[in-house]
Amino acid sequence: MSADIDQTRPPTSAVTKAVVPAAGLGTRFLPATKATPKEMLPIVDKPAIQYVVEEAVESGLHDVLMITGRSKRSIEDHFDRAYELEVALKAKGDTERLRSVRESSDLAQVHYVRQGEPRGLGHAVLCAEAHVGDNPFAVLLGDDLIETADLLRRMIEVRREHGGSVVALMEVEPEQVSLYGCAAVEPTEEDDVVTVTDLVEKPSREEAPSRWAVIGRYVCDPAVFEVLHRTPPGRGGEIQLTDALLELARTKPEEGGGVRGVLLQGQRYDTGNKADYIRTVVDFACRRPDLAEELLPWLREFVDRHDRTDRS
Ligand code: UTP
Repeated sequence: MSADIDQTRPPTSAVTKAVVPAAGLGTRFLPATKATPKEMLPIVDKPAIQYVVEEAVESGLHDVLMITGRSKRSIEDHFDRAYELEVALKAKGDTERLRSVRESSDLAQVHYVRQGEPRGLGHAVLCAEAHVGDNPFAVLLGDDLIETADLLRRMIEVRREHGGSVVALMEVEPEQVSLYGCAAVEPTEEDDVVTVTDLVEKPSREEAPSRWAVIGRYVCDPAVFEVLHRTPPGRGGEIQLTDALLELARTKPEEGGGVRGVLLQGQRYDTGNKADYIRTVVDFACRRPDLAEELLPWLREFVDRHDRTDRS
């Protein structure tokens, strides 16, 4: 091996693993989330987390590590075979439902690790260290749904071309920046890609460096683990992934640093708060041919009725 090759980091490998943190307390959704993880709440007839795993698979990531907490049983059961149910459906000749039941267990290779205490998203990601090793990996938040897998595929491509880490950015209204991590950005030669120069977790409107909000998709260089090990609890007393990514944004590329942002095109749904969850369910239901025909006339009539009540 030539002596002048930089051996401080291993050669850049492909992104093949997805990490799905689902160990948060889901307090905004209590009491529904007392015994059920919020990621298992149904969007029409599939739990939110199944859409997320489908997106990972569509992006070429077949190895999925779930970070779970209390009440992990329902997630494990959902991605496992349901033997008795399958036997019963087979006996009835209900092939359509049998297919839907098998879909989630056949999707991907799903692994689990438990986050003993919900100490924040950064800490949840740190729990993936042994499984991921020294490879870049994707993080998909289990309660954030993105319309297509194009965004994650593009993020993986940007990582392949430039190395470093990649975040997904969505432009939000100024009064909404305080709900997100917010990025200061500089343009690159590609219209949909920016360089991230600063990150602030949940800034006030005045503190926000831009209207570009970090949403629940990341591609992380494994250097993030070393940073997370020494990241102290930040906002809300939680170890924040944003804080670790900010340090990586200021680190040299040869040390695994550099953070780029891919700008979201299309729709994103946050199923972790009540109003957005209800919007998501209605939106998904109205896109379904088997439900739209019945639902849309009812919705129109419902809104008319409300308008009339408001006016009287
Ligand atoms: P959130 O901050 O939205 O989740 O974390 P939360 O804490 O469960 O929600 P509320 O605010 O109490 O209602 C974003 C994602 O990170 C995961 C959550 O499960 C969610 O998918 N998470 C968060 C963890 O896995 N571990 C944590 O310690 C915190």
